[in-house]
Amino acid sequence: MFNKKLITDIDVKGKRVLARVDFNVPIKDGKVEDDTRIVAALPTIKYLLDHGAAVILCSHLGRPKEGPDPKYSMRPTAEHLSKLLGKPVAFSDECVGPVAEAAAKALKPGDVLVLENTRFYKGETKNDPEMAKQLAALADIYVNDAFGSAHRAHASTEGVAHYLPAVAGFLMEKEIKYLGEAISNPKRPFVAILGGAKIVDKIGVIRNLLKIADTVLIGGGMANTFFKAQGYPMGESLVDGEALETAREILQDAGPRLRLPVDVVIADKFDNNAHTKIIDVGAVPEGWAILDIGPETVAAYSKVIKDAGTVVWNGPMGVFEMPNFAKGTFGIAQAVAESQAVSIVGGGDSVSALNQSGLSDKITHISTGGGASLEMLEGLTLPGVAALQDK
Ligand code: 3PG
Repeated sequence: MFNKKLITDIDVKGKRVLARVDFNVPIKDGKVEDDTRIVAALPTIKYLLDHGAAVILCSHLGRPKEGPDPKYSMRPTAEHLSKLLGKPVAFSDECVGPVAEAAAKALKPGDVLVLENTRFYKGETKNDPEMAKQLAALADIYVNDAFGSAHRAHASTEGVAHYLPAVAGFLMEKEIKYLGEAISNPKRPFVAILGGAKIVDKIGVIRNLLKIADTVLIGGGMANTFFKAQGYPMGESLVDGEALETAREILQDAGPRLRLPVDVVIADKFDNNAHTKIIDVGAVPEGWAILDIGPETVAAYSKVIKDAGTVVWNGPMGVFEMPNFAKGTFGIAQAVAESQAVSIVGGGDSVSALNQSGLSDKITHISTGGGASLEMLEGLTLPGVAALQDK
């Protein structure tokens, strides 16, 4: 299934290895707030160190637009990694160029260096071959373990792979294995649960999943656009006007595979303390907005999830940041956790809902990639993977 060379297929002893990781993690007051992605890269980093490599790590953090910005420095991730590894981790204020080259050259086998944010350089997102060559000049081997960024064709995720022997890390392999298996050879019934605010971001995903899944359960703001397309007055609910025509087409083609909520929680303002009502799907009164799926929907969806062989979930069912509109999302989290199905959850919000409800360890695979996992579900090839050497 995974047909790319892995770090175990190449001799790394005595080599400098440039590993692209996804250390795009939340930082607060100069400290890493959630280290899930850093922890997920440890098996690859440790393997390289244990096998005599000097490890140079690079990543982006956030979306800095104007060059270097201390707010987006990788330094806190280097400090955090040092704690996790229990050893010093060097840091270079530059990602490419003479400073980075000197720092890379100074490394001995077993040493670790973290480079400054790749996106402090314009060449990164443009996938500029010059930047890719400069990155390649730091090392003998390139490893891509940044699944979360594999849908980006950037200099550090794609370009550099053309200038060095390029292989995959363990996290990349694991993510592609689980998601790839779900897509190409799912244990059936295969149930996909899609939520989140906007339908536009997920049109391709819905279309592809309707081809391969047995049931697609829709929740969250995106359900509103389908309701509007069915002709219901939506009050103040969030509706994606531009996607209405597409929503109509999808409804027409989908048949019974596509399931929409049967009841919803409405509120008279966008506030946790708003007045709320549970109504059957239909006309939303003037001045009211849908903020969550209702209890009958949670029960109906939970039954489908319980009988599933494979469940893939991406996106919350309502405005779960507000406790009064979180029951839908937490109800679905509970159902996915209790199901015997192979369960795969991706996307920051659904993962955070799982963590908040303490159910993460009941999930078969929690993806470190939001956009990347969606692109896989859409059936697209990830450029960061395609560029690696075939087995
Ligand atoms: C993510 O957080 O999804 C990845 O790190 C990619 O980040 P990006 O959307 O800014 O490219």
